[in-house]
Amino acid sequence: MTKNIHVKKWVDEMAALCKPDSVYWCDGSQEEYDRMIQIMIDAGLATPLNPEKRPGCYLFRSHPSDVARAEKRTFIASKKKEDAGPTNNWIDPDELKATMTALYDGCMRGRTMYVIPFSMGPVGSYISKIGVEISDSPYVVINMKIMTRIGTTVLETLGEDGEFVKCLHSVGKPLLDGAKDTEWPCIPNVDDKYISHFPEERMIWSIGSGYGGNALLGKKCFALRIAGVQARDEGWLAEHMLILKLTNPEGQSYYICGAFPSACGKTNLAMLEPVFPGWKVETIGDDISWMKFGEDGRLYAINPEAGFFGVVPGTSMKSNPNAMKQIQSNTIFTNVGLTDDGDVWWEGSGIPAPDHLIDWQGNDWTPDCGRLAAHANARFTTPAAQCPVIAPEWEDPAGVPISAILIGGRRKSTIPLVNESLDWNHGIFLGSIMGSEITTADITDKVGQVRRDPFAMLPFMGYHMGDYLRHWFNIGKRTDASKLPRIYFVNWFRKNADDKFIWPGFGDNSRVLKWIVERLSGTGEAVETAIGNLPAPGAIDTSGTNVTAEEMNELFKIDKELWVAEIASIKENYRSYGDRLPVELADELAKLESKLV
Ligand code: OXD
Ligand code: MN
Repeated sequence: MTKNIHVKKWVDEMAALCKPDSVYWCDGSQEEYDRMIQIMIDAGLATPLNPEKRPGCYLFRSHPSDVARAEKRTFIASKKKEDAGPTNNWIDPDELKATMTALYDGCMRGRTMYVIPFSMGPVGSYISKIGVEISDSPYVVINMKIMTRIGTTVLETLGEDGEFVKCLHSVGKPLLDGAKDTEWPCIPNVDDKYISHFPEERMIWSIGSGYGGNALLGKKCFALRIAGVQARDEGWLAEHMLILKLTNPEGQSYYICGAFPSACGKTNLAMLEPVFPGWKVETIGDDISWMKFGEDGRLYAINPEAGFFGVVPGTSMKSNPNAMKQIQSNTIFTNVGLTDDGDVWWEGSGIPAPDHLIDWQGNDWTPDCGRLAAHANARFTTPAAQCPVIAPEWEDPAGVPISAILIGGRRKSTIPLVNESLDWNHGIFLGSIMGSEITTADITDKVGQVRRDPFAMLPFMGYHMGDYLRHWFNIGKRTDASKLPRIYFVNWFRKNADDKFIWPGFGDNSRVLKWIVERLSGTGEAVETAIGNLPAPGAIDTSGTNVTAEEMNELFKIDKELWVAEIASIKENYRSYGDRLPVELADELAKLESKLV
């Protein structure tokens, strides 16, 4: 329970609406976590893994309709439609509340309503913020315990009058007449799911999904969409970025953020093992960075999360040895294969497939059956503190000073391996044009076109994208240019004529990071080009790789024809922002055009 009358009043109102059998206030203890797990084991929803192989680990299988973030069903219900902007789904907030109130009415019958007070960021840090999630899912409780800091201490910090974000979540499946869950509860019909944001009220309402970002409301909904609006109003940045610490052999450390769209390897980069002796990468965060100005005028970042919710398929000793060690214990697996000896298996693990297992849908699976053992978006939820290379200061309430920001998407051509922005405004321009080629066959008329994903925020924007980019320019005006992080546009995904990646990626990305810190310390060599500062020939150390000099040329080639097409496509994208396109972006584009043509 709480002394905060606003929390209490809101919980009472939501209980009156959702009509649960009981209301339980989470204290955040280990005992409580174990109890929640036991409830789900008893209901047949959780499978304990073999304690000799994966101590403290559990497997869950979600409903086949509930396996990923539901972007089509994610709404920004700002009062004015134009404030949600061209990239978001909008419904009038009064209309949406009326629709959802009807869905919430009685939705928790037969269930317990869990009240989860949580802190995004170390409890009490000046950068942290508090939320309270109400949910009828014990799966949400245990995941929130790993992903955030939950429980009584958060309520104490909130005090009698503290500000909090209201997060209401229900799986949308009441248990009537003593019914029990027989499978993962959710609303299977996608069009009946809602993940709604009311930015002016700092409020989130979600119903119908129990999975990931749809249900763990601290992550994308709060820490990016709602916090983005708070950051705009309060003068800071809430970003879809990893945070890493890179230390060179001289012992100098640099903190670097990185914005990459989903499935571009953020988690892998955050824990990468450098190929050079004496260099060290340590992890602060793998998905979200909140940055505020410190008294010295620099931007300081915290990781608002306390765990990693990472994609399992493709995680291997090659792609991410540290994550492999991290998920050996105390980890929740969702939608992977279960081996006959009680361990988990997934595609791309680098471990030979067993002759038989139970797949993510609970069916018998053999290597030749033609189905995936693990869903492509299967996830691990694992405590950040367990990461073998977590930086000792990862929970420092003061945050860490950011020297550089990496941005990048998946581009098979045009965009070089690395490009240093000329200044802050040019860096924002590069951030605004990032994106990936559309490859999914279901948008057949768009395959090959670039989907612009500014700062990797496209699915996570809480307001108008044009206003968001303007906010970046405003941030730049608040301090001396020399104190701002430098922005680097990277692209690990450039391909050759045979459609093969030219750059080896993974640990070899440390070669690019090395050049970046050499630039920061003033020793790295660069040449200024029309598109930005590119590494001077030989400035990126490729010794020990089989990347040839010709391939390096290819990785940095500025193909004028492709850039002309790129500019046309950027212009088209900019038009969608209407009069909210910051004039600085139009200026940067005009400068680029005149330099290239
Ligand atoms: C994530 C995502 O889950 O970006 O982090 O999709
Ligand atoms: Mn993400």
